[in-house]
Amino acid sequence: ADQPTFYDLVGGEPTFRKLVARFYEGLADDPLLRPLYPEEDLGPAEERLRLFLMQYWGGPNTYSASRGHPRLRMRHAPFRVGPAERDAWLRHMRDAVDSLDLPADQHQTLWEYLERAAYFMVNTMDDA
Ligand code: HEM
Repeated sequence: ADQPTFYDLVGGEPTFRKLVARFYEGLADDPLLRPLYPEEDLGPAEERLRLFLMQYWGGPNTYSASRGHPRLRMRHAPFRVGPAERDAWLRHMRDAVDSLDLPADQHQTLWEYLERAAYFMVNTMDDA
């Protein structure tokens, strides 16, 4: 049989569902980040992030089947992502990762990836 993926090890879809739901709960009330999201209903954006992360960690490729190649830096180009937006995004994501109560090695693997990805997404160094 195939080796279990990181997706399997952390508990599969329910874990990513919980992670992203918690993240969007924080985002919904964030005065800096909420205005960046074009849609009133955050549900579809929540689903896109959940499916992307599931795919990234070895789960089903549903994200690319519906959205194509991720090209995340390009997809974020229309939005202002400066250091303040990055830090706010990471604050909500840290809270969400902590809520999973993963074993320390899995927590670290997931967090280090998200932190690196958020730094990579910054597209302006201007202060707001
Ligand atoms: C989409 C903001 C970092 C993954 C979006 C959208 C916004 C946004 C405004 C459009 C909402 C939508 O989907 O309609 C930000 C900000 C970040 C950040 C302010 C701060 C650094 C990240 C990171 C990842 C990520 C680190 C991945 C690990 C995604 C994905 C989408 C998305 C997968 C949907 C792309 C698509 O298929 O259209 N983000 N993002 N974002 N973001 Fe971010």
